Amino acid sequence: MADFADRWGFAQDKFWLRGERPAESVEWSEEFQRWHVYGYAEVNEALSNNDGYSADSGKLFGLDEETLKFFDGDLAQMTGPEHANVRKQVSHAFSPRFIEHLESRVYDLSNEYADKLIHLQKFNLLSDFVDHVAGIVFSELLGIPADDRTMFKLVDQNMDQQAQMTQVEAEDGEGYFDKLTKPLQPLREMLGVHVDERTKNPKDDLISLLSQVKKLDGSLMTRDQIINFIIGILGAGHLATPLLIGNTMLCLESFPDQAEKVKADRTLVPGLLEESMRYLTPGAASYRATIADVELGGKQIPKDSLLRVYLGAANRDPLQFPEPDLFDVTRSPNAHLGFGRGSHYCVGGQMVRVETRIVFEVLMDRFPKLRVDPDIAPQFFNSPDFTGVRSGGLYVRVD
Ligand code: HEM
Repeated sequence: MADFADRWGFAQDKFWLRGERPAESVEWSEEFQRWHVYGYAEVNEALSNNDGYSADSGKLFGLDEETLKFFDGDLAQMTGPEHANVRKQVSHAFSPRFIEHLESRVYDLSNEYADKLIHLQKFNLLSDFVDHVAGIVFSELLGIPADDRTMFKLVDQNMDQQAQMTQVEAEDGEGYFDKLTKPLQPLREMLGVHVDERTKNPKDDLISLLSQVKKLDGSLMTRDQIINFIIGILGAGHLATPLLIGNTMLCLESFPDQAEKVKADRTLVPGLLEESMRYLTPGAASYRATIADVELGGKQIPKDSLLRVYLGAANRDPLQFPEPDLFDVTRSPNAHLGFGRGSHYCVGGQMVRVETRIVFEVLMDRFPKLRVDPDIAPQFFNSPDFTGVRSGGLYVRVD
């Protein structure tokens, strides 16, 4: 509700965090020249109906050919049988065996970082703790040395744009490429070295797996496509994990009765995280392109239109969630859209759920008095496409 959003200082454009709801579930935006989709049923339809809508929205962003090359290979932008084919092969990286290993690895790492912080009265929950744990397990998933994770931070800028990513056109004349793609060059070069090495000597990791993925025509993914794939999951995926943990801390702080419930009964931790995904959805919006004339929310939308689907607003739709502005860790059912829906549903969903559950269990065990530092306001990423605490932007006290 407004109290929650104002207390922490969330940006005004995240209207759903203040309990506000647009009059219509789908509306045309003259300013942005695209459709805005807010309702749960309508967002669900746009994400699930592959005959009417496509995730390949990049071509409608008004980007030039040169920039579009940097999306080639990004699973989230692939469509049709090739998307299903690549996705099926990539999913093997998130096998039950990997998830089981992840559970014990996150437990050990979380305790290792807790040991380093246990003597302090306050610390930065993200830069001193979560970024290390999440960064190390992500490096291990990829199969790169943990120290190389410092480069992941270059992707943070995408989340720090005040403009939505479709609209990045800076006042100083710099466009999408200069603002978002060029600065990633050192990261691309670092990843390229590992892709070359793993193509020659495959091991048991995601980069090796990607270097062996067979496209439908029998060819392998190119070096650039593999790099684009990894950058795709880094931006939308890995860096959203600390957002979820930071956001959940704000929820626990704002709703002490719910915090008490979870502390008293750890089996409620998964419910806490699902409700945090719904209430303070980290990936606030995604995009779709219509590939046929469609009707959505009573509006006729022509083929080749761009849609911004508001996952965060849909997760507060009263037609789907009774009392949507109430934070309730026991909410059931809680079919939120925080990880998307349909054929592009988050590949890393299971990984995030395990990782964040263990982190919270260890935090609660090791720091029973953990709370947001009342003297240092949290800092948020600027992007309207993401909702959450920025890297290094959340101090906690443990005394
Ligand atoms: C809290 C953390 C995360 C959030 C909030 C999140 C959210 C999402 C959402 C909303 C989508 C669907 C986008 C759409 O349909 O347009 C998505 C897709 C995806 N996510 Fe995640 N994600 C998270 C973590 C991860 C992680 C850790 C990984 C990988 C290690 C990952 C990999 C992917 C991939 C590859 C896709 C595209 C799937 C496809 O197009 O088939 N995500 N994610």
